[in-house]
Amino acid sequence: MTKQKTILSGIQPSGKLHIGNYFGAMRQHIRMQQEGDAFYFLANYHSLTSVNNGRLLEEYTMDVVLDYLALGLDPDKCTFFAQSDVPQTTELAWILGCLTPVSLMEKGVSYKDKVANGLSPNIGLFTYPILQAADILIYHSNLVPVGEDQKQNIEIARDLAGKLNRAYEKDLLIIPEEYIVKSVAIVPGIDGRKMSKSYDNTINIFDEGKTLKKRVMAIQTDSTPLEDSKDPETCNVFSLIKLFAEVDIADEIAEKYKAGGYGYGHAKKELMGLIEGFFAEARDKRKELEKNPDYVRDVLSDGGIKARKRAESVMEPIREATGLFRSFSY
Ligand code: ADP
Ligand code: TRP
Repeated sequence: MTKQKTILSGIQPSGKLHIGNYFGAMRQHIRMQQEGDAFYFLANYHSLTSVNNGRLLEEYTMDVVLDYLALGLDPDKCTFFAQSDVPQTTELAWILGCLTPVSLMEKGVSYKDKVANGLSPNIGLFTYPILQAADILIYHSNLVPVGEDQKQNIEIARDLAGKLNRAYEKDLLIIPEEYIVKSVAIVPGIDGRKMSKSYDNTINIFDEGKTLKKRVMAIQTDSTPLEDSKDPETCNVFSLIKLFAEVDIADEIAEKYKAGGYGYGHAKKELMGLIEGFFAEARDKRKELEKNPDYVRDVLSDGGIKARKRAESVMEPIREATGLFRSFSY
């Protein structure tokens, strides 16, 4: 029997998750949980680069756990855990950092983007890709399903794995294959830019009722009069409709756009119904899970134990090779 591939991915708990996160990342994670030995984690060390309020970080972390479980992540099929339960990650990140040229970090596009969007230019943010590399490499991951925007960080992880192996002349780390999810285009936000929590243009996965209505009604459209024919392909509302509707329903709506007499208000109503229907089951499941915080904590602690065990088995030979002195073993 061939060995199962290790699949790994993470998401930062630094705000409420939105439908861009769902279609761009979470849906793939959930789909892939049975395709290998999957590890999914809450990148809460990474969130410290932008969230410096303990109560808030804890709240966001629990929110993301509930979201994933409600949307179908099954802790019996994958290892689901918090990054902070695996301190070996930061240990490896330090060692990798000592092999990382500053110039490699200076090429990081994500750092520049985030600072341009108002995040504080702290060292954590600057060296974020090194911690991400440690996340990936500490489990001997083979596949890392992520969106296009993470491509550079995966390349850095591959690069750093090679540097460590060469420095100590040993195959201490596995070089992960690239795995970029190409199936989903960037999901637009209500202002037409990329949906992102940094732009305050999101529709959150579990928005409902008045909040959902307010967000959908605020989607920017052009001013074509109601009776005129409209082009669905250039409309933000229709881009979102396409994500939620079956193909035949989306085609029908496109025809209505083209025929005229169909306004953006109609399309928005249709979109609202589609979003509500799409997440209805998950919404109910989330409400049930909210009543059971002990179960949720148990999921994370079981996952944390498994993840830490794997990480320790990768870390131990690295400690030995690097010559780091230890008076006792873990
Ligand atoms: P945000 O931009 O809201 O801060 P993150 O950068 O934390 O989101 O992204 C988490 C994951 O969700 C990443 O894998 C990213 O590829 C995916 N993602 C985020 N926004 C979108 C979007 N608008 N369209 C598609 N995927 C997205
Ligand atoms: N940087 C990723 C994001 O913003 C989150 C992340 C942290 C990650 N560590 C990772 C993703 C390791 C994949 C693998 O979405």
